[in-house]
Amino acid sequence: MIAQPLTILDHHYQELNNGGEDVIQGLSQNPKILSPKYFYDDPGSQLFEKICELPEYYPTRTEAWILQQYADEIAEITNCCELIELGSGSSTKTQVLLDAYQKIATSCRYVPIDVSGGILKTSVLQLQKKYPDFSIHGLLGTYEQALVHLESSYLQSRMLFFLGSSLGNFNPEECDSFLNQVSRTLQTGDFFLLGIDLQKPQDILEAAYNDSQEVTAAFNLNMLSHLNWRFQGDFDINLFRHQAIYNQVDHQIEMYLHCQKSHCVFLEVLGLKVDFEAGESILTEISRKFDLRTIETQLQSKGLNTVKTWTDEKGWFGLILCQV
Ligand code: AVI
Repeated sequence: MIAQPLTILDHHYQELNNGGEDVIQGLSQNPKILSPKYFYDDPGSQLFEKICELPEYYPTRTEAWILQQYADEIAEITNCCELIELGSGSSTKTQVLLDAYQKIATSCRYVPIDVSGGILKTSVLQLQKKYPDFSIHGLLGTYEQALVHLESSYLQSRMLFFLGSSLGNFNPEECDSFLNQVSRTLQTGDFFLLGIDLQKPQDILEAAYNDSQEVTAAFNLNMLSHLNWRFQGDFDINLFRHQAIYNQVDHQIEMYLHCQKSHCVFLEVLGLKVDFEAGESILTEISRKFDLRTIETQLQSKGLNTVKTWTDEKGWFGLILCQV
C-alpha cells in the first residue's frame, strides 16, 4: 500500500477557514486590515516562490547561504530524528538540512507543514523520491493546528524549525503566543531552529518589498483575487495599488493596498458590503525586523535557550538554534 503523502489536520479545515469572520472584522474597522494568511492560495504561494528569487529580496538567499555554511554543524549538534518544518512551502532551502541529516542518521523523519495543499503535496512527493530512506509526511493546516497535533503525537527527539523570518509576520502578541505554543510542543532536550530577518537600512528593506519586476505588487493584489474566489467577491484589483514602507519606530515593513477611487465591494458569501474611499488603504502584512539579542532574550523567557546563533557576513539575517 502506498502511504498517503499528507494528513489534513482538521477535516473541517476548509469550512472552518472559510468562515471569514476575520475578513468581516478587518474590513469593517478603520484603518482596514486583512490577515496575511489570505496571501497563500495556490497562485499566491507560487508568487511567493518567485519573490524568493528576486534580486532585491535578500532574505531567502541570505538564509540559504547561512544554512549551506552551517547545516552540518546543526545536524551534529542536534543529532535528532524528527525534523518538523512550520510553513515549509516548497521545502527548497530545507534540502540543505536534509542532506546534512542524511550524512549522520540512517532513519530520519521529515514533517513539512503548510496551509497550501498543492505545493505541500508536490514537495512531499518530490522529496520522497529524492530521499527514499527518509519517512516524509506532510501536515496540511495552520501553525496552530499543527502544533496542537504535534503535542499529542510525540514519537522521538525533535527539531522544530521555522525559517524565512515568518515569525516577523506576527504582531508582538501573536509572536508571544506562538512561542508559548512552540515551547509547549517541545520536550526537554528538543531543539527549535529559527530564521529571522535583522534590522538594516531602510532603502535595502523597502527595495526588497517594492521590487522592480512588481512581483511583490502582484502577490499583494492577489489577496483580493483570492478573497473574490473564496467569498464570491467583486474586488477590482485595478482599483488598488501596492505599497510597502518601513516603519522605523516599530522596525517593520508594512504592506498596504491603496484604493485609487471611491467604490463599493460586495463579498456575497459573507453578506458583506464594504465602502472604500479614494486614498484609503488596507494593511495586508507586517514584516518585523529583529534585533538578535532582544529575540534571544524573548526565546529564553519561553524556555527556549540559545545554543548557537549564526549570521551572514553583513549581519542581515540570523539563524538561532535553541534547546528546551
Ligand atoms: C513569508 N514572509 C516571511 C515574507 C516576508 O518577507 O515577510 C512574506 C513577504 N511579503 C512580501 N514579500 C515577502
